[in-house]
Amino acid sequence: MGDMRPGVCPRGLKDRFQAVEASMPIKRSDEPQSFDRRRFLGASVSTATLPFVGARLEKAFAEPEALTPGDDSISVTLSVNGDSYRLGLDVRTTLLDALREHIGLTGSKKGCDHGQCGACTVHIDGVRALSCLTLAIAAQGHQIGTVEGLARADGALHPMQQAFVDNDAFQCGYCTPGQIMSAIGCVKEGHAGNDDAIREYMSGNLCRCAAYPNIVSAVAQAKAQMED
Ligand code: FES
Ligand code: FES
Repeated sequence: MGDMRPGVCPRGLKDRFQAVEASMPIKRSDEPQSFDRRRFLGASVSTATLPFVGARLEKAFAEPEALTPGDDSISVTLSVNGDSYRLGLDVRTTLLDALREHIGLTGSKKGCDHGQCGACTVHIDGVRALSCLTLAIAAQGHQIGTVEGLARADGALHPMQQAFVDNDAFQCGYCTPGQIMSAIGCVKEGHAGNDDAIREYMSGNLCRCAAYPNIVSAVAQAKAQMED
């Protein structure tokens, strides 16, 4: 996925994040990270998606108006939380829309739909990914994990879910599924060693309720439990 680092905020948005955070009683001392969104999008389309779909998707990108009804539907099989779903989708359907509109798993949220808020974060083969920037067909053949698949069959919450509850790490809750999926990725990547690292590697997940201090506390609590 080129230089894309899921969970890390693009330049500009990070400034806004830092401005909000600066008004809170927490300290931030990490270095700004560079991110070239134009280069990421170009690399994503050219190296990650087109090989999966060939000429039909190239046509969809180059001449979307040239597609006629019946010309743009393809069969896609997605493996989500261990279950298999066979769907008839427009080739341009994002993974987020496939999950929400076609499978009915609405835990993954649509915030910006442009890769800038993190509300849509899911796991693909155990790695966090922005489902609004991922074509459904590109996720075919991979294991997709959503927030609905975290709790055990007996109802016991994942340690990260429990930590969010314990630390009151949400208000309206709209960003919370994406925060939790990203936080699990953050811990698994080894990027939750201290509060500054957590802030850095969770900075791509925005919270309009500004629950950031509690989110950092939740990630730190869950990290200890996940590593036991
Ligand atoms: Fe995907 Fe905002 S909805 S990043
Ligand atoms: Fe409301 Fe994060 S809890 S947006």
